[in-house]
Amino acid sequence: MKAKEIARRIIGIELDEGRGQGGEHFGHRVERGELDLSHNVILYLDEITVSFDGFKALNKLSMTIDVGELRCIIGPNGAGKTTMMDVITGKTRPDSGKAFFGQSIDLTHFSEPEIAHAGIGRKFQKPTIFERHSVFENLELAMKTDKRAAMSLIAWLADDERDRISDTLRLIRLDHDADRPAGLLSHGQKQWLEIGMLLMQEPKLLLLDEPVAGMTDDETMRTAELFVSLAGQHSLMVVEHDMAFIKQLGGKVTVLHEGSVLAEGDLDSVQNDQRVIEVYLGR
Ligand SMILES: Nc1ncnc2c1ncn2[C@@H]1O[C@H](COP(=O)(O)OP(=O)(O)OP(=O)(O)O)[C@@H](O)[C@H]1O
Ligand SMILES: [Mg+2]
Repeated sequence: MKAKEIARRIIGIELDEGRGQGGEHFGHRVERGELDLSHNVILYLDEITVSFDGFKALNKLSMTIDVGELRCIIGPNGAGKTTMMDVITGKTRPDSGKAFFGQSIDLTHFSEPEIAHAGIGRKFQKPTIFERHSVFENLELAMKTDKRAAMSLIAWLADDERDRISDTLRLIRLDHDADRPAGLLSHGQKQWLEIGMLLMQEPKLLLLDEPVAGMTDDETMRTAELFVSLAGQHSLMVVEHDMAFIKQLGGKVTVLHEGSVLAEGDLDSVQNDQRVIEVYLGR
Protein backbone atom coordinates (compact mmCIF):
# COMPACT_ATOMS: atom_id res chain seq x y z
CA MET A 1 0.00 0.00 0.00
CA LYS A 2 2.93 2.26 0.55
CA ALA A 3 3.50 2.69 -3.16
CA LYS A 4 -0.12 3.62 -3.67
CA GLU A 5 0.10 6.19 -0.95
CA ILE A 6 3.14 7.68 -2.58
CA ALA A 7 1.26 7.72 -5.87
CA ARG A 8 -1.63 9.52 -4.29
CA ARG A 9 0.65 12.11 -2.74
CA ILE A 10 2.45 12.60 -6.00
CA ILE A 11 -0.75 12.87 -7.93
CA GLY A 12 -2.02 15.34 -5.40
CA ILE A 13 1.05 17.46 -5.99
CA GLU A 14 0.64 17.12 -9.72
CA LEU A 15 -2.95 18.23 -9.55
CA ASP A 16 -2.07 21.24 -7.46
CA GLU A 17 1.15 22.34 -9.10
CA GLY A 18 1.43 20.35 -12.31
CA ARG A 19 2.22 22.05 -15.54
CA GLY A 20 -0.09 22.40 -18.48
CA GLN A 21 -3.45 22.05 -16.86
CA GLY A 22 -6.64 23.80 -17.81
CA GLY A 23 -6.95 25.62 -21.08
CA GLU A 24 -9.75 25.34 -23.50
CA HIS A 25 -10.13 22.13 -25.44
CA PHE A 26 -11.40 23.23 -28.75
CA GLY A 27 -9.13 21.13 -30.92
CA HIS A 28 -9.04 17.39 -31.01
CA ARG A 29 -6.40 15.33 -29.28
CA VAL A 30 -3.41 15.03 -31.57
CA GLU A 31 -1.92 11.56 -31.61
CA ARG A 32 1.79 11.21 -32.26
CA GLY A 33 1.23 9.31 -35.50
CA GLU A 34 -0.52 12.33 -36.99
CA LEU A 35 2.65 14.39 -37.10
CA ASP A 36 3.58 14.76 -40.75
CA LEU A 37 7.32 15.34 -41.10
CA SER A 38 7.47 14.52 -44.79
CA HIS A 39 9.02 17.88 -45.69
CA ASN A 40 11.62 17.61 -42.92
CA VAL A 41 10.13 20.63 -41.14
CA ILE A 42 9.17 20.33 -37.48
CA LEU A 43 7.97 23.89 -36.96
CA TYR A 44 6.79 26.57 -39.33
CA LEU A 45 5.69 29.91 -37.96
CA ASP A 46 3.77 31.82 -40.58
CA GLU A 47 3.37 35.57 -40.01
CA ILE A 48 2.49 35.39 -36.33
CA THR A 49 1.32 38.64 -34.78
CA VAL A 50 0.62 39.07 -31.06
CA SER A 51 -0.51 42.42 -29.65
CA PHE A 52 -0.74 43.52 -26.04
CA ASP A 53 -2.84 46.66 -25.80
CA GLY A 54 -1.92 47.63 -29.32
CA PHE A 55 1.80 46.95 -28.83
CA LYS A 56 3.03 44.22 -31.18
CA ALA A 57 5.16 41.78 -29.19
CA LEU A 58 5.32 39.64 -32.34
CA ASN A 59 4.99 41.30 -35.70
CA LYS A 60 4.41 38.94 -38.64
CA LEU A 61 7.05 36.59 -37.30
CA SER A 62 7.93 33.80 -39.72
CA MET A 63 10.46 31.05 -39.14
CA THR A 64 11.13 27.43 -40.06
CA ILE A 65 12.90 24.79 -37.99
CA ASP A 66 13.97 21.50 -39.52
CA VAL A 67 13.52 18.06 -38.01
CA GLY A 68 16.43 17.32 -35.66
CA GLU A 69 17.74 20.87 -35.78
CA LEU A 70 19.23 22.72 -32.82
CA ARG A 71 18.14 26.32 -33.32
CA CYS A 72 19.42 29.16 -31.19
CA ILE A 73 17.32 32.26 -30.71
CA ILE A 74 18.90 35.49 -29.56
CA GLY A 75 17.73 39.08 -29.40
CA PRO A 76 17.58 41.99 -26.98
CA ASN A 77 15.19 42.09 -24.02
CA GLY A 78 11.63 42.47 -25.16
CA ALA A 79 12.32 41.15 -28.67
CA GLY A 80 9.48 38.63 -28.34
CA LYS A 81 11.42 35.41 -27.70
CA THR A 82 9.34 34.22 -24.77
CA THR A 83 6.13 35.36 -26.43
CA MET A 84 7.03 33.21 -29.42
CA MET A 85 7.34 30.17 -27.14
CA ASP A 86 4.03 31.10 -25.51
CA VAL A 87 2.37 30.98 -28.93
CA ILE A 88 3.95 27.64 -29.86
CA THR A 89 2.83 26.04 -26.60
CA GLY A 90 -0.70 27.47 -26.74
CA LYS A 91 -0.29 29.76 -23.75
CA THR A 92 -0.87 32.85 -25.88
CA ARG A 93 -3.19 33.03 -28.87
CA PRO A 94 -1.87 35.09 -31.78
CA ASP A 95 -4.03 37.82 -33.33
CA SER A 96 -3.13 36.40 -36.71
CA GLY A 97 -0.82 33.87 -38.32
CA LYS A 98 -0.36 30.14 -38.05
CA ALA A 99 2.09 27.89 -36.23
CA PHE A 100 2.49 24.53 -37.91
CA PHE A 101 3.86 21.52 -36.09
CA GLY A 102 4.91 19.29 -38.95
CA GLN A 103 2.99 19.85 -42.16
CA SER A 104 -0.58 19.84 -41.00
CA ILE A 105 -1.10 20.57 -37.31
CA ASP A 106 -1.84 24.26 -36.69
CA LEU A 107 -0.96 24.72 -33.04
CA THR A 108 -3.02 27.89 -32.76
CA HIS A 109 -6.11 25.65 -32.63
CA PHE A 110 -5.00 23.58 -29.65
CA SER A 111 -4.84 23.96 -25.90
CA GLU A 112 -1.66 23.74 -23.83
CA PRO A 113 -2.24 20.13 -22.70
CA GLU A 114 -3.09 19.07 -26.24
CA ILE A 115 0.11 20.64 -27.56
CA ALA A 116 2.21 18.97 -24.86
CA HIS A 117 0.56 15.66 -25.70
CA ALA A 118 1.26 16.19 -29.40
CA GLY A 119 5.00 16.22 -28.63
CA ILE A 120 6.17 19.71 -27.70
CA GLY A 121 8.00 20.00 -24.38
CA ARG A 122 8.83 23.29 -22.75
CA LYS A 123 11.31 23.92 -20.03
CA PHE A 124 10.35 26.71 -17.70
CA GLN A 125 12.80 28.87 -15.83
CA LYS A 126 11.56 27.75 -12.43
CA PRO A 127 12.02 23.98 -12.18
CA THR A 128 8.81 22.08 -11.54
CA ILE A 129 10.52 19.08 -9.98
CA PHE A 130 9.20 17.30 -6.90
CA GLU A 131 11.81 18.25 -4.32
CA ARG A 132 10.99 15.62 -1.75
CA HIS A 133 11.06 12.75 -4.19
CA SER A 134 14.17 11.07 -5.46
CA VAL A 135 15.67 11.91 -8.81
CA PHE A 136 14.60 8.47 -10.06
CA GLU A 137 11.02 8.97 -8.88
CA ASN A 138 10.86 12.33 -10.59
CA LEU A 139 11.70 10.73 -13.92
CA GLU A 140 9.31 7.89 -13.23
CA LEU A 141 6.48 10.32 -12.61
CA ALA A 142 7.26 12.33 -15.68
CA MET A 143 6.98 9.19 -17.78
CA LYS A 144 3.46 8.56 -16.57
CA THR A 145 1.52 11.50 -17.84
CA ASP A 146 -1.76 9.72 -17.34
CA LYS A 147 -2.83 10.05 -13.70
CA ARG A 148 -4.67 6.73 -13.63
CA ALA A 149 -1.68 4.97 -15.12
CA ALA A 150 0.48 6.51 -12.40
CA MET A 151 -1.89 5.12 -9.79
CA SER A 152 -1.91 1.60 -11.08
CA LEU A 153 1.63 1.26 -12.37
CA ILE A 154 3.74 3.03 -9.81
CA ALA A 155 4.51 -0.10 -7.86
CA TRP A 156 5.52 -1.93 -10.96
CA LEU A 157 7.91 -0.69 -13.60
CA ALA A 158 8.46 -2.69 -16.74
CA ASP A 159 12.08 -3.45 -17.64
CA ASP A 160 12.01 -1.18 -20.65
CA GLU A 161 10.69 1.65 -18.50
CA ARG A 162 13.55 1.13 -16.04
CA ASP A 163 15.97 1.12 -18.95
CA ARG A 164 14.56 4.35 -20.26
CA ILE A 165 14.93 5.99 -16.87
CA SER A 166 18.52 4.70 -16.56
CA ASP A 167 19.39 5.99 -20.02
CA THR A 168 17.95 9.40 -19.18
CA LEU A 169 19.78 9.48 -15.84
CA ARG A 170 23.08 8.93 -17.67
CA LEU A 171 22.21 11.51 -20.31
CA ILE A 172 21.51 14.22 -17.72
CA ARG A 173 24.53 13.10 -15.66
CA LEU A 174 22.50 12.23 -12.59
CA ASP A 175 23.05 8.46 -12.62
CA HIS A 176 25.03 8.72 -9.38
CA ASP A 177 22.29 10.77 -7.75
CA ALA A 178 19.28 8.62 -8.65
CA ASP A 179 18.26 8.00 -5.04
CA ARG A 180 18.88 11.50 -3.71
CA PRO A 181 15.93 13.76 -2.97
CA ALA A 182 15.67 16.18 -5.87
CA GLY A 183 15.61 19.10 -3.42
CA LEU A 184 19.27 18.44 -2.53
CA LEU A 185 20.56 18.85 -6.07
CA SER A 186 22.51 21.92 -7.17
CA HIS A 187 20.75 24.56 -9.24
CA GLY A 188 22.25 23.20 -12.44
CA GLN A 189 21.39 19.60 -11.58
CA LYS A 190 17.77 20.59 -10.92
CA GLN A 191 17.64 22.14 -14.36
CA TRP A 192 18.99 18.92 -15.87
CA LEU A 193 16.46 16.88 -13.97
CA GLU A 194 13.73 19.08 -15.36
CA ILE A 195 15.10 18.47 -18.85
CA GLY A 196 15.20 14.74 -18.10
CA MET A 197 11.56 14.88 -17.03
CA LEU A 198 10.68 16.51 -20.32
CA LEU A 199 12.61 13.83 -22.20
CA MET A 200 10.66 11.07 -20.46
CA GLN A 201 7.62 12.31 -22.37
CA GLU A 202 9.52 11.79 -25.65
CA PRO A 203 8.93 15.22 -27.13
CA LYS A 204 9.68 15.81 -30.80
CA LEU A 205 10.37 19.48 -30.19
CA LEU A 206 11.93 20.94 -27.06
CA LEU A 207 11.65 24.63 -26.21
CA LEU A 208 14.21 25.94 -23.74
CA ASP A 209 14.01 29.52 -22.53
CA GLU A 210 17.27 30.73 -20.97
CA PRO A 211 18.23 27.24 -19.78
CA VAL A 212 21.66 28.15 -18.40
CA ALA A 213 20.66 31.23 -16.41
CA GLY A 214 22.23 30.94 -12.98
CA MET A 215 24.43 27.98 -13.89
CA THR A 216 28.15 27.80 -13.21
CA ASP A 217 30.48 27.88 -16.21
CA ASP A 218 31.05 24.16 -15.86
CA GLU A 219 27.31 23.41 -15.71
CA THR A 220 26.75 25.66 -18.71
CA MET A 221 29.35 23.76 -20.71
CA ARG A 222 27.82 20.42 -19.80
CA THR A 223 24.37 21.68 -20.71
CA ALA A 224 25.65 22.63 -24.16
CA GLU A 225 27.05 19.10 -24.55
CA LEU A 226 23.70 17.66 -23.50
CA PHE A 227 21.76 19.74 -26.04
CA VAL A 228 24.18 18.90 -28.83
CA SER A 229 23.71 15.21 -28.01
CA LEU A 230 19.90 15.58 -28.05
CA ALA A 231 19.81 17.21 -31.48
CA GLY A 232 19.00 14.79 -34.25
CA GLN A 233 16.76 12.65 -32.07
CA HIS A 234 14.88 15.78 -31.04
CA SER A 235 14.48 19.24 -32.48
CA LEU A 236 15.45 22.02 -30.09
CA MET A 237 14.72 25.72 -29.89
CA VAL A 238 17.02 27.39 -27.38
CA VAL A 239 16.67 30.99 -26.28
CA GLU A 240 19.76 32.38 -24.54
CA HIS A 241 21.63 35.60 -23.90
CA ASP A 242 24.89 33.75 -23.06
CA MET A 243 26.89 33.99 -26.29
CA ALA A 244 29.64 31.60 -25.18
CA PHE A 245 26.92 29.01 -24.69
CA ILE A 246 25.34 29.77 -28.08
CA LYS A 247 28.75 29.41 -29.67
CA GLN A 248 29.23 26.03 -28.08
CA LEU A 249 25.83 24.86 -29.30
CA GLY A 250 26.98 25.64 -32.82
CA GLY A 251 23.51 25.68 -34.34
CA LYS A 252 21.94 28.15 -36.73
CA VAL A 253 21.11 31.41 -34.98
CA THR A 254 17.95 33.48 -35.43
CA VAL A 255 18.03 37.05 -34.16
CA LEU A 256 14.68 38.44 -33.08
CA HIS A 257 14.06 42.15 -32.78
CA GLU A 258 10.77 43.94 -32.23
CA GLY A 259 8.81 40.78 -32.84
CA SER A 260 10.33 39.82 -36.19
CA VAL A 261 13.38 38.02 -37.51
CA LEU A 262 16.20 40.52 -37.94
CA ALA A 263 18.90 38.11 -39.12
CA GLU A 264 19.56 34.41 -39.41
CA GLY A 265 22.69 32.35 -40.03
CA ASP A 266 25.71 31.00 -38.20
CA LEU A 267 26.80 32.89 -35.10
CA ASP A 268 29.77 34.58 -36.81
CA SER A 269 27.66 35.94 -39.63
CA VAL A 270 24.91 37.33 -37.40
CA GLN A 271 27.45 38.83 -34.99
CA ASN A 272 29.04 40.64 -37.90
CA ASP A 273 25.71 41.81 -39.28
CA GLN A 274 25.57 45.60 -39.04
CA ARG A 275 21.84 45.64 -38.17
CA VAL A 276 22.40 43.14 -35.36
CA ILE A 277 25.29 45.18 -33.98
CA GLU A 278 23.14 48.33 -34.00
CA VAL A 279 20.29 46.60 -32.21
CA TYR A 280 22.58 45.30 -29.48
CA LEU A 281 24.46 48.54 -29.04
CA GLY A 282 21.22 50.49 -28.96
CA ARG A 283 20.70 53.38 -31.30
N1 LIG B 1 1.27 39.49 -20.99
C1 LIG B 1 1.81 40.61 -21.48
N2 LIG B 1 1.15 41.79 -21.42
C2 LIG B 1 1.68 42.91 -21.93
N3 LIG B 1 2.88 42.96 -22.53
C3 LIG B 1 3.59 41.82 -22.62
C4 LIG B 1 3.09 40.59 -22.10
N4 LIG B 1 4.02 39.62 -22.35
C5 LIG B 1 5.03 40.23 -22.97
N5 LIG B 1 4.78 41.55 -23.13
C6 LIG B 1 5.67 42.52 -23.81
O1 LIG B 1 5.99 41.99 -25.07
C7 LIG B 1 7.36 42.26 -25.40
C8 LIG B 1 8.06 40.96 -25.68
O2 LIG B 1 8.26 40.29 -24.45
P1 LIG B 1 8.99 38.89 -24.34
O3 LIG B 1 8.89 38.47 -22.94
O4 LIG B 1 8.49 37.97 -25.38
O5 LIG B 1 10.50 39.31 -24.69
P2 LIG B 1 11.82 38.44 -24.63
O6 LIG B 1 12.45 38.53 -25.98
O7 LIG B 1 11.53 37.09 -24.09
O8 LIG B 1 12.70 39.29 -23.62
P3 LIG B 1 13.78 38.81 -22.50
O9 LIG B 1 15.07 38.62 -23.24
O10 LIG B 1 13.86 39.98 -21.57
O11 LIG B 1 13.27 37.57 -21.85
C9 LIG B 1 7.91 43.05 -24.24
O12 LIG B 1 7.85 44.42 -24.55
C10 LIG B 1 6.98 42.72 -23.09
O13 LIG B 1 6.92 43.76 -22.17
MG1 LIG C 1 12.09 36.09 -22.36
